[in-house]
Amino acid sequence: MKRITDFFEKITFEGETFQEEMMYSPEATAAFAKHANERDLYAHGISMSGSPLAYDWKSVRKFNEETLISYADFSTFLTGLQSRNINGIYKYHYPSAGGLYPIDIFIYVKENRIENIKQGLYQYHPLQNTLQLVSTEKIPVTLHYYGNRHIFSSSAFSVYLFYVPSASYPKYGGMGMFYGILDSGILLEFMGKSARKKGIGSCIIGNLDFQKFNYNFSQEKERLYLCGMEMGLPLQENDNAE
Ligand SMILES: Cc1cc2nc3c(=O)[nH]c(=O)nc-3n(C[C@H](O)[C@H](O)[C@H](O)COP(=O)(O)O)c2cc1C
Repeated sequence: MKRITDFFEKITFEGETFQEEMMYSPEATAAFAKHANERDLYAHGISMSGSPLAYDWKSVRKFNEETLISYADFSTFLTGLQSRNINGIYKYHYPSAGGLYPIDIFIYVKENRIENIKQGLYQYHPLQNTLQLVSTEKIPVTLHYYGNRHIFSSSAFSVYLFYVPSASYPKYGGMGMFYGILDSGILLEFMGKSARKKGIGSCIIGNLDFQKFNYNFSQEKERLYLCGMEMGLPLQENDNAE
């Protein structure tokens, strides 16, 4: 299976150096986040005011491991991802370049966390609005970078998004992957916001290493892992800690 890092790790920008050590230093990361956010600190222009139209986004990284997510809430959340054939055109509740929807969605459900859904890796089928069990094997925590392991350990379920070249490359060539990445970002935000309406919190996980999981995602068609999300009932109402 190809990895997204195979494409993007090669990218360079003149004058920029990748500082890998930041991965292991929370202090250096915090300092850099300040630097990045303040890049236009002294800019000025016409003042804008008003109340934000969207509610605040907030990642959740600690989940309630005692309370089951009801089947009704989980099912309602997934139904938001379904595709409906309207006059011969497949319609979703979120956009995708060219209406191709080349992102396959996998859901890993932990044991005793969702009412009526057994532990396992499932593929979500938007046309049928069904979850198909594809593996009962446990996903190891070591798939995740060290700093993300506690998030995976307490989440109720994980969502994994894969780009499917055969559903996009013939129309867009290499740019299809770029659009697929944009599609997955839109989908992540859509999922995070709709889950929140059912009290389910989420944290996007930028990267992990699927080589460490013994399941071949590309067995029936090529798939490229893009991004994921850990989800569950928030442990604390105001959890916002990294
Ligand atoms: C593409 C992307 C990748 C992310 N990867 C991670 C991650 O690996 N681990 C993590 O804890 N948070 C991750 N996040 C969440 C961000 O850290 C978080 O959105 C940001 O700090 C702002 O905080 P907020 O979401 O609570 O507003 C990611 C977010 C995005 C959009």
